[in-house]
Amino acid sequence: MVSVKSHVVLAAMAGVCDGRFCFEAAKAGAGMVIMGGINFDAETIRAGLKIKNRGRSEFHVELCDLENFLFREVKTAKRGGAPVAVNVRVATLEGLLRAGELVKNSGADAFELNAHCRQHEITQLGGGQALLLNLDKLKEWIKSLKKVLDLPLIVKWRANVVNDVALAKNLDSLGVDAFHVDAMKPGYSEADLEVIRNISKKSEVFLIGNNSVTDLSTALRMIEAGARVVSVARYTLNDPRLVGRLAREVEEALQRRMWKISNLNFG
Ligand SMILES: Cc1cc2nc3c(=O)[nH]c(=O)nc-3n(C[C@H](O)[C@H](O)[C@H](O)COP(=O)(O)O)c2cc1C
Repeated sequence: MVSVKSHVVLAAMAGVCDGRFCFEAAKAGAGMVIMGGINFDAETIRAGLKIKNRGRSEFHVELCDLENFLFREVKTAKRGGAPVAVNVRVATLEGLLRAGELVKNSGADAFELNAHCRQHEITQLGGGQALLLNLDKLKEWIKSLKKVLDLPLIVKWRANVVNDVALAKNLDSLGVDAFHVDAMKPGYSEADLEVIRNISKKSEVFLIGNNSVTDLSTALRMIEAGARVVSVARYTLNDPRLVGRLAREVEEALQRRMWKISNLNFG
């Protein structure tokens, strides 16, 4: 069971959200921190290197170093006092199962499967967002993962790629513990709150709403639309402590407005 400590969570940013960054965010008041994304098979590690070589931020960790890396970084992050999840990028079932074992052994509190990354080096391997386009494979992978994973499972995906409500229903039936939805709408600079509203109406699964949360009003609108908590990435890119500041503002506003504060546990 994961007990999220406030309504604002740090979202994964490859090459940014390491143990230290997560620690700072958690210490400042983030409800949960999501480390990574981290590549867990030879294919995605190679892809990550290509992405890094064209100038995007990435964590490059060789397969043989993953166990030590995770153990060290998760330990650092956990000192911040919030639950720690690890965002996992894979292109193979073998990599997924390896990730299940390594993430569990690292002391992390939750596993986040990345069905979100749209970098072509990852999607052409069938990983990241491409998983959404092969629902049978995604379902088989989740079933296999759940047999070995002794941790709550979050699935992170990008909205408006497939039918989000149908996807949510499928994942719900597989026992996924939390949905992390990047409510991106192509061509718009604001989050697609309709997607959050529709998913939350059709499923009771713990919903983390993401995209373009940068202040109190965008956070509250996302929560009002049905997200149990919100997550932030770009807003906090240059200072992890901003997550905590926003979290405090949200807690105060929820109390002032006497909104019914729902249970922040999942898993
Ligand atoms: C530099 C950077 C790296 C990112 N890396 C990842 C990643 O590895 N895994 C992932 O699921 N999302 C990743 N994201 C996406 C964010 O977690 C988030 O979904 C997206 O930026 C929208 O949220 P925002 O509007 O709060 O930035 C990354 C975003 C940025 C800016």
